[in-house]
Amino acid sequence: MTYSVEWIDNKLQLLDQSRLPHEERYDMLTTVAEVADAIRTMKVRGAPAIGVAAAYGVVLAARQSERADTEARTQTIVAAIEELETTRPTAVNLFSALNRMRAALARPEPADITSRLMDEAVRIHDDEKKATTAMSTYGASLVPEGATVLTHCNAGAIATAAHGTALGVIIHAYRMGRVKRVIATETRPLLQGARLTVWELVQEGIPTTLITDSMVGHVMHTQAVDCVIVGADRIASNGDVANKIGTYGIAVLAHAHHVPFYVAAPFSTIDMGISDGGQIPIEQRRVDEVTSFGGQPVAAGGSDVLNPSFDVTPNSYVTSIITERGILSSPYLSRLKTMVENHDGKGG
Ligand code: MRU
Repeated sequence: MTYSVEWIDNKLQLLDQSRLPHEERYDMLTTVAEVADAIRTMKVRGAPAIGVAAAYGVVLAARQSERADTEARTQTIVAAIEELETTRPTAVNLFSALNRMRAALARPEPADITSRLMDEAVRIHDDEKKATTAMSTYGASLVPEGATVLTHCNAGAIATAAHGTALGVIIHAYRMGRVKRVIATETRPLLQGARLTVWELVQEGIPTTLITDSMVGHVMHTQAVDCVIVGADRIASNGDVANKIGTYGIAVLAHAHHVPFYVAAPFSTIDMGISDGGQIPIEQRRVDEVTSFGGQPVAAGGSDVLNPSFDVTPNSYVTSIITERGILSSPYLSRLKTMVENHDGKGG
């Protein structure tokens, strides 16, 4: 399979997600500035994919500075890490991947800096692949036979540089014969659902129904939706979940209609350093993403405009969190702590 993020011939190959579904174009990046731009402009997007791309971006910085002495190279690489940290604020995977690259830079072995950083970037990528494979097996067990599953935004293979979080679970459950239909929300304003999730699901041959975001309440009221499965950009230690704007509303509707609301995310998305979702920085994007549609201005003008890219779903609306280490439900804080301790105790 071709991943959305791949290291090929000492370059970073990225599937330009901003052009999908109309054009499937792969760009070859050779500088950290190009990687930072690709993350900012969402050519690469989705929490785990951003982290993996940034890690390879640090390797590009190491390659770009190979002729400088060790001190100057270290400064260049640290500056690259700091530039990448400014690209998008919400998905913690970006920061956890860059922290791992910073730690690799500080290690003495292997002596060659580029090899050291490359090894770590490949490990970060492999960890996402392993995590998404494991969580799809755990998560599929939650999906009842013949299910209609609703998802929001895009948490598929292209968002993870691996096998997908929420969509990985859904696709695995479909292959087990459990999923009858997927309902995908269009995901205003950048249409990750309509453009990307539908593209991925149709390629898998999965019966899919596209709806606008505002149809979720009507659909839950009038049709059987068996569960909601979404991804996440950052999960606080108490289980509050930041994900694409609109997720919170869907979670409240799911609660009102007694529909289980599942979040599928690797541990690289869990931020044990913050106590609740109020501490998650929410990215505010350009207002023209809201005031225009398909590049055409549509708003009347004269009003203020909001464009938060994410919202926070309180843990009380989250039925379970599906991770590569197993499925968790409330109380999240103690259970997440136990999972971290058990994993760290095994040397992981
Ligand atoms: O702004 P985006 O498209 O990067 O937002 C992505 C999401 O909100 C996804 O649901 C989330 O990153 C999970 S991806 C596995």
